Amino acid sequence: MTAQGLFVSFEGIDGSGKSTQARRLAASLQAAGREVVLTREPGGSTGAEEIRALVLQGDPDRWSAETELLLFTAARRDHLERTIRPALAADRIVICDRFADSTRMYQGLSRGDLRGKVDALHDLMIGAEPDLTLLIDMDPKQALGRAKARATLEERFEDFGQGLQDRMRAGFLALADEFPDRIRVIDGNRDEDAVARDVAATVAAHLA
Ligand code: TYD
Repeated sequence: MTAQGLFVSFEGIDGSGKSTQARRLAASLQAAGREVVLTREPGGSTGAEEIRALVLQGDPDRWSAETELLLFTAARRDHLERTIRPALAADRIVICDRFADSTRMYQGLSRGDLRGKVDALHDLMIGAEPDLTLLIDMDPKQALGRAKARATLEERFEDFGQGLQDRMRAGFLALADEFPDRIRVIDGNRDEDAVARDVAATVAAHLA
């Protein structure tokens, strides 16, 4: 996305372990002396965190699919302006837990086929992609079990159940075929350390 810094995103279905892996990657790069900004979506800036509460808490049906898409995109625009671009300009490594691929999947597929609108809005308002995206691929049944075990205030898409998890997994793998230069698929059906080693090696190869 820029000549400076490095922008890495993590993607995957809910419960795939991507947040843990994002944290571990950030810690290992920091230990190696790199300046890292670990962030997440929706959120990652003051305004975007406010929008996060709007989309993930309360009755999700109060938003139409289109309004929800606008809110996620608004959050991303603020995050990009306030957090991501300044960090990349300062030559930092930005590690982001979810980015636009999540919108392509969740808003693009879960409530009807909105992918065309997702792409149009992305081109108009975001226009940036990570340099590298690590897709933590995981068996949807196991992932759903993990995701459900974490009770939080946030209404998640995992509440839509196994069928949606299956479609999201297939959708993410199709996205990896669509963007082969950017997306690397990591097998998440292994113990955490093995996945972390694979993630670290993939990022090291990209940096080299
Ligand atoms: P998640 O990664 O589960 O958050 P946490 O860090 O708390 O585990 O993301 C929250 C939810 O937001 C998840 O169900 C996917 C959804 N989401 C979208 O629907 N569209 C988006 O563009 C993004 C970034 C997330």
